[in-house]
Amino acid sequence: MFETAKPDQISYLDRLAASDLGRSYKQRMLDELEICAGQTVLDLGCGPGTDLGTLVEATTATGSVLGFDRDQAMVDAARARTAGQPVVDVRLGDVHDLALPDQSADRARTDRVLQHVADPGLALAEIRRVLRPGGRLVMGEPD
Ligand SMILES: C[S@@+](CC[C@H](N)C(=O)[O-])C[C@H]1O[C@@H](n2cnc3c(N)ncnc32)[C@H](O)[C@@H]1O
Repeated sequence: MFETAKPDQISYLDRLAASDLGRSYKQRMLDELEICAGQTVLDLGCGPGTDLGTLVEATTATGSVLGFDRDQAMVDAARARTAGQPVVDVRLGDVHDLALPDQSADRARTDRVLQHVADPGLALAEIRRVLRPGGRLVMGEPD
């Protein structure tokens, strides 16, 4: 995956996700999430929405999948990619301060996000706030 020129960020994320390594760790994250039908699932720092479709499938399209990203270009790309999926809602937002009620989600994932945030401890406290008791957070930092 080494490159000599800085790639476009979205195409880089797409290529990594399509690689053997990318598919492998993303599948492991999905398995660890243990998503059930009808659940509310958060993809925090969702980027261009690479994983939103898979999360919809895991909820059997009966739940709700919310993507958050602080970058408007990522939000726009994720919305375009999930335009035909009514259970997906992509929002501009910061993982340190999620516009969600307490205990309103069943599952959450961060995939190469905590390494970028200003205060990972605060971000984790915020994720804990929005997860229901018994909820599950899976964090991946393969970079
Ligand atoms: C390396 S990309 C990973 C994107 C996606 N999770 C994936 O696996 O393809 C990191 C993403 O986290 C977002 N991000 C970084 N800090 C954030 C924050 N504090 N709140 C929300 N999103 C954040 C960035 O805008 C970027 O889209």
